[in-house]
Amino acid sequence: MLGLDMQVPCAHGAGTCSFYSCPIAHSKWFFSTHLSPDPGEDAGLTKSIGVSSFNNKQLEKILNKPGLKYKPICNQVECHPYLSQRKLLDFCKSHDIVLVAYAALGSQRLKEWVNLGLPVLLEDPVLCPIAKKHKQTPALVALLFQTQRGVVVLAKSYNKKRIKENIQVLDFELTPEDMKATNGINRNIRYYEFLP
Ligand SMILES: NC(=O)c1ccc[n+]([C@@H]2O[C@H](COP(=O)([O-])OP(=O)(O)OC[C@H]3O[C@@H](n4cnc5c(N)ncnc54)[C@H](OP(=O)(O)O)[C@@H]3O)[C@@H](O)[C@H]2O)c1
Repeated sequence: MLGLDMQVPCAHGAGTCSFYSCPIAHSKWFFSTHLSPDPGEDAGLTKSIGVSSFNNKQLEKILNKPGLKYKPICNQVECHPYLSQRKLLDFCKSHDIVLVAYAALGSQRLKEWVNLGLPVLLEDPVLCPIAKKHKQTPALVALLFQTQRGVVVLAKSYNKKRIKENIQVLDFELTPEDMKATNGINRNIRYYEFLP
């Protein structure tokens, strides 16, 4: 699939931010590309568009664009049991946009990016007993929680054993009570605090 990923819906140009300095990734696009002609219109190469870290209002702005040719098919946002993004998920579902979760395991907790004072998701006192009950790990509970509510998850690992473990996510099922309990630990905690 030929796709286009528009990351971060705020305007800043190349070189103004150490991480988001790539001109391609840049969200001047949100204003200059997505709200004016459709990307790829000239070359006719665009098949699908994905966006990242867009909220309801920003998605709405795109969707309401007169003559919109390429509706975003997915929106990648921070999402995990501590930041369940219920409203955004409902909005995305109602517009056939797939919500893709990053930091689904509570992030890599790199001190450069994340406030290390925030609680560790995979040590949560609600997730851990659910994992124990199913003879699984808190990581798998956090991932399965997402897939069972229709969220696509990204799970990053540099460790062969954990990569294999994460693939086992569909080998068990959370009960409605497990889902309810996991939903209940939402605290609107955003590990990547610098992102919109
Ligand atoms: N669109 C955006 O703006 C944006 C922002 C942030 C991140 N992302 C993307 O999202 C993806 C993942 O998010 P993330 O990097 O924040 O991390 P994450 O997937 O939430 O967590 C990764 C951390 O969890 C550990 N881990 C993985 N599997 C585990 C398991 N089964 N049990 C226990 N620990 C486990 C990993 O350690 P080990 O490696 O030691 O296993 C790593 O430290 C990345 O590909 C990243 O590029 C996108």
